Amino acid sequence: MTDPDTLLTQALERARVAPDDEALRALDREFLQKGGVVANLLASIPTLPPDQRKATGQKANQIKQALEAALAARKAELEEAALASERSGAGFDATLPGAKQERGGLHPITQVTRELEDLFTSMGWMVLDGPEVELDWYNFEALNIPKDHPARDMQDTFFCDVSTKNAHERDLSGKVVMRTHTSPVQVRAMERLKPPFRAIVPGKVFRNESTDASHEHTFHQMEGLCIGKDVSVGHLIGAMKTLLRGIFGREIEIRLRPGYFPFVEPGFELDARCPFCKDGCSVCKRSTWIELLPCGMVHPNVLKAGGIDPEQWTGFAFGLGLSRLVMLRHGIDDVRMLLSGDLRFLEQF
Ligand code: PHE
Repeated sequence: MTDPDTLLTQALERARVAPDDEALRALDREFLQKGGVVANLLASIPTLPPDQRKATGQKANQIKQALEAALAARKAELEEAALASERSGAGFDATLPGAKQERGGLHPITQVTRELEDLFTSMGWMVLDGPEVELDWYNFEALNIPKDHPARDMQDTFFCDVSTKNAHERDLSGKVVMRTHTSPVQVRAMERLKPPFRAIVPGKVFRNESTDASHEHTFHQMEGLCIGKDVSVGHLIGAMKTLLRGIFGREIEIRLRPGYFPFVEPGFELDARCPFCKDGCSVCKRSTWIELLPCGMVHPNVLKAGGIDPEQWTGFAFGLGLSRLVMLRHGIDDVRMLLSGDLRFLEQF
């Protein structure tokens, strides 16, 4: 073994001229850390003749302290030099392009949602929110869809596995669902607000679908609810025309067909004249009409469930398919792209 003094002299010299941090770390590993020179020296002590042990121990400590000091000093020197060179502007090239700022963008669904929120708030409507995990009561019962009603089949439902009782000791098993539409917020709104009022409710909804290009288990809707004195189908049509004008930027012809939803009576399917063609295209499936807005007059049973007297108040409701609208607007042919998180898709908006 090289004698300790020589080792120390060499190490100190290497520290003095170390070009960078990495060189300093290498010295630290070689001498000071586990398995390094100092540790080996200390480990050898028990094997030495007794009269050499003390000196060897002292030597090891001396190496440790001297090298630690040298490493610290060189580290400070290097830092100082780096700072000085930065301050002097050496190596700075003002003509190099700057670091690129990556900018995010809003999801197309968020864009449409915000536009519609602006449109409706400008007409005095409120924007409401409601829970995505919903009670069976709000999602179905209060909307005039009792247990075992065949209308439940129209909305394949995710039931939540809630086996424990909630804070009020109510047994919720089988009574908690992922909301299948935004309509439950109609009843929640009625409970909280005094009529007259008008509100839209954009949000996520969930259905237990096998997914394909036009079906997705999670998608977006925007509910609308207007409650007032003598609110009529005329008001409904007026509001829907304004909505379509806002979306497509011009007057859009509409037609009403009868539609069945237990929570409205009468209920309609509102079709819009295809904004993309005159005499049939792939979007309107050659019919020139696009089925866009299920709607109708709020059923008296629903008003009652929400604590509103149907003798005094009437209202209309609609359920705009936001996901579908975004697909129409941008010519997206697969609904699964919307929530895919695929940047190649998202960066186009
Ligand atoms: N909630 C219905 C659905 O998702 C749509 C709807 C809303 C129909 C409001 C009428 C009135 O299918």
